[in-house]
Amino acid sequence: MLDPRAAIARKRDGYPLTRGEMEEFLGAALRGEVPDYQVSAWLMAVCCRGMTVAETVDLTDVLAESGQRLDLSRFGRMAVDKHSTGGVGDKITLVAAPLAAACGLVVGKMSGRSLGHTGGTIDKLESIRGFRTSLDPDDFQRQLDRIGLAIAGQGSALAPLDGLLYALRDATATVPSQPLIASSIMSKKIAGGASAICLDVKVGRGALMQSLDDARQLARTMVNIGSGLGRRIVALVTDMDAPLGHAIGNALEVGEAVDTLAGRGPDDVRELSLRIVAELLVLAGAEPDLRGGTARANEALRAGSGLEKLREMVAAQGGDPRQIDDPRELPRAPLAAELPAPHAGYLRSIDTARLGSLAMDLGGGRREKGDAIDHRVGLVILPRVGDLVRAGEPLAIVHCRDRSQLEGLDRDLLAAFTWSDLPSPRTQLVREVVRTG
Ligand code: URA
Repeated sequence: MLDPRAAIARKRDGYPLTRGEMEEFLGAALRGEVPDYQVSAWLMAVCCRGMTVAETVDLTDVLAESGQRLDLSRFGRMAVDKHSTGGVGDKITLVAAPLAAACGLVVGKMSGRSLGHTGGTIDKLESIRGFRTSLDPDDFQRQLDRIGLAIAGQGSALAPLDGLLYALRDATATVPSQPLIASSIMSKKIAGGASAICLDVKVGRGALMQSLDDARQLARTMVNIGSGLGRRIVALVTDMDAPLGHAIGNALEVGEAVDTLAGRGPDDVRELSLRIVAELLVLAGAEPDLRGGTARANEALRAGSGLEKLREMVAAQGGDPRQIDDPRELPRAPLAAELPAPHAGYLRSIDTARLGSLAMDLGGGRREKGDAIDHRVGLVILPRVGDLVRAGEPLAIVHCRDRSQLEGLDRDLLAAFTWSDLPSPRTQLVREVVRTG
């Protein structure tokens, strides 16, 4: 007979937990046999005491086992996935996933919605008229067999225990615990069934991890979990001290992803997407090294086959492919207002989290789970960090519903930029790479 107090006390006193102990305690929690206050106390004990690598691997497996698991084993090593810990303007999945599929990989991706200042792929895809983000597992698998690419919402069938823990973490200030973050993210990747995974761990002002040390540690923990559970895995630690690309906001980001796949996109979005596809090709054994992977990804981009794959996926999931053929057909906000630079100078830094929050305030994101969002609104930030901007040149374009949304926005937006008289160095996009072993 389980005594929840004993499980809590063992963690409180710093003992490592066995898989059996976690399975018993958390399984009972999922069945409603352990009240929330005891699960919360256990989470706080984990948060304060931490977890060993072995415990974190076991916790991930227990979370992944708590619900449905997709079986992609028939695709062998070719079944791949990518995951970003969340950023501002992060539309990389919309570029990298079709490009990887165009290179012959099978990408079955479960994605999330936006929360707080970071965006979510599912909301972006819902900018496309008719696009279905909820696919049942049979349809998901059939689509993978047919076109090698499917992106759907996570739903509650995958790792339901993670859903329960996440809600309690949110209410008990235990979200920042690294083993809890790592096992939460990885449980959904493991349940998603891919055999090779590329993680994009964001670091900087717009990211969950603000320091390189924290991001590196999270990346290392997740790589250890993945390899501990038999996956081929790599983590890139990438910069989030500036938004990715220019566009922030759902339909605007879909447009920028389409532009990138058509060869017209911003350099950073193209560079990171190509790198992720190259890493996945190597992990899957489809290319011997990154040079080969990059060449193949580049070729798919140049030939337009990534764009064609995105179009196929949109059509397969009920969306209107004409909006991919011509992104001007995507939903547009009624008003687009330019923000001019108040003076000349070199752009030194951008407060990425602030831009994410402003885009959310315009209606492009949600403060609380379940809030409605407006796919049309957002920001387009024109210069990149390090650029020389002349007085009066447009700094940003605000896409909004009406003039009332612009009140006070200029001031808030300008406060997100800092300036210098001298060119400042651009930060590297891929800051570090964490591999197994
Ligand atoms: N994303 C998740 O899925 N879980 C976390 O704990 C943090 C980010």
